[in-house]
Amino acid sequence: MSIERTFSILKPNAVAKNAIGSIYSRFENAGFTIVAAKMLHLTREQAAGFYAEHDGKPFFNGLLDFMTSGPVVVQVLESENAVQRYRDLMGATNPANALAGTLRADYADSMTENAVHGSDSTASAAREIAYFFSDNEVCPRTR
Ligand code: PPS
Repeated sequence: MSIERTFSILKPNAVAKNAIGSIYSRFENAGFTIVAAKMLHLTREQAAGFYAEHDGKPFFNGLLDFMTSGPVVVQVLESENAVQRYRDLMGATNPANALAGTLRADYADSMTENAVHGSDSTASAAREIAYFFSDNEVCPRTR
């Protein structure tokens, strides 16, 4: 199993709950290394570009309204098998289906306000990391 990177967002409802530190502890306790991080308030254009694959779906405008409603925190997580392991930690997109102990079971409010985002493949992770971070903003551990 090789070391992988995945891209993560703490969505506006998670940030509004003052849950950044708690969720970062969950990342670290689960064995992820945070190798890049920043807080930002997305513009509608940034959010639309990030979620371009969902353009035209009935929930698209509501998703953009939500994702631009307050600050988010974006980060790159590194571990073995990071994409799948982080999806397991997040739980199902719909919090009604999220297993106990997952981030969405604990922090999500609805299908839209579902607290966290994670890449769905290594190809998506590469695109999503590059969307928010330049190469010198990703800082692998040297020890
Ligand atoms: S789908 O149905 O295959 O397009 O769903 P998925 O690929 O899992 O991701 C959908 C993202 O859009 C957000 N969102 C919603 N999805 C489905 N239905 C509704 N009503 C909805 N509202 C918002 C959902 O939270 C996923 O966001 P991310 O950030 O990718 O988890």
